[in-house]
Amino acid sequence: GRQWTKVELLAPVMRDQVVLIRGRVQTIRPVGKKIAFVVVRERGFTVQCVLTVKPELVSAQMVKFATSLSKESIVDVEGVVTVPEKPITGATQQQVEVQISKLYCVNKAVPTLPINIEDAARSEVEIEQALEKGEQLVRVNQDTRLNYRILDMRTPANQGIFRIQCQVENIFRQFLLSEGFVGIHTPKLIGGSSEGGSAVFRLDYKGQPACLAQSPQLHKQMAICGDFGRVFEIGPVFRAEDSFTHRHLCEFTGLDVEMEIKEHYSEVMDIVDRLFVTIFDSLNDKCKKELEAIGRQYPFEPLRYFRGDKKTLRLTFEEGVQMLKEAGIEVDPFGDLNTESERKLGQLVAKKYGTEFYILHKYPLAVRPFYTMPCYDNPAYSNSFDVFIRGEEIISGAQRVHVPEFLAKRAEECGIDVKTISTYIDSFRYGAPPHGGFGVGLERVVMLFCALNNIRKTSLFPRDPQRIAP
Ligand code: 4AD
Repeated sequence: GRQWTKVELLAPVMRDQVVLIRGRVQTIRPVGKKIAFVVVRERGFTVQCVLTVKPELVSAQMVKFATSLSKESIVDVEGVVTVPEKPITGATQQQVEVQISKLYCVNKAVPTLPINIEDAARSEVEIEQALEKGEQLVRVNQDTRLNYRILDMRTPANQGIFRIQCQVENIFRQFLLSEGFVGIHTPKLIGGSSEGGSAVFRLDYKGQPACLAQSPQLHKQMAICGDFGRVFEIGPVFRAEDSFTHRHLCEFTGLDVEMEIKEHYSEVMDIVDRLFVTIFDSLNDKCKKELEAIGRQYPFEPLRYFRGDKKTLRLTFEEGVQMLKEAGIEVDPFGDLNTESERKLGQLVAKKYGTEFYILHKYPLAVRPFYTMPCYDNPAYSNSFDVFIRGEEIISGAQRVHVPEFLAKRAEECGIDVKTISTYIDSFRYGAPPHGGFGVGLERVVMLFCALNNIRKTSLFPRDPQRIAP
């Protein structure tokens, strides 16, 4: 086969080399009948290619043909790399150009596109500036983007977002494997709701009532009963959310962990701490291009978190309530924090401690799910925690009740029909170690790490109360 060069890797060191690239036509600008500038894009990276009429090499007809190509068509370009005197504006590879000798159209796109990729890739500031200059441009709204997601995905920012997502998942897996965890898969079709509440998709399972798993909660705990010691899962999670918010989806990717606890639930928080610092470090070190591409369209400040030996900040729920109180915000000390007070607390914590990533633990028992272990010394509280990035929740976790009689009692108290989860409760009758774990929303991690304003931006094909296509 021939040697193909990635647009991303085109650089001045390749001067005078003949390269072969495949990409999409982003723009074509003819200058008279003898020259055409074709910007070619591959995986979010762009290069300016120049077609100039030259005897025996490039005909006027070829220039005409190039000019007729529709945007987003796939093309193969062969040409010589040159280094222009001034950097090229309008291409990510600003230091080089390609002087085209051959140009093939591999596959044509339709002439009119529902989304113009260049417009879809502009930042809010660029849009404002363009409008002020009286430029013709269309502000691409979220619904249009999602309706034509396969076009929207082509913007450099989106190319970055989903590569970042993949890296989070990858480091999650690698880190846990290195700590002796085993990757498992639990069923998504289950007989009873795993988290209680109403946010469950019910379905008919060959004549029996069933539902889509709201989390791997019950079965990941059962794997601990099955003596795996430490497990993790990466898989889909279904929530029949009613409300339309910036951070809830009806289907998201759950990163779940469950592990034996030897002495204290802080062992689980220690894993959260080291796992996430490793993830953030790796994103910052290995995904610079992706973060830059995202930041060009959606400018954001890098996440502030404690690096190196400094442990991630842990505050108790009581301390959090106290901080809010001192700032003039009264919240119920045995209720849950609402979105607004969580945000506010995030700001207070960032100001006082200089971190936007922290753990809030020892929540009131009343606001936690039935399987949560109460505090030994004060059962009004629980051995549980939430983890926040920029004042929004990305994780919730806890030690679990591993004594079956007590577990059944807690389920009943929380209004759960114990019959529907009897196999789960029975699992603890054959010797079950103390254990705990946590669940992470992958889309939320990416959204908040990059300070994006909507979870739909970090889900490839989002499912929300109003959308099940494409
Ligand atoms: O807080 P949740 O509901 O906790 C559980 O599912 C427990 N079983 C976890 C555990 O092991 N104790 O969900 C966990 C995380 C949340 O912190 C959030 O990041 C994400 O899942 N999440 C959602 N993400 C997108 N859309 C939704 N509707 C979400 N609901 C929860």
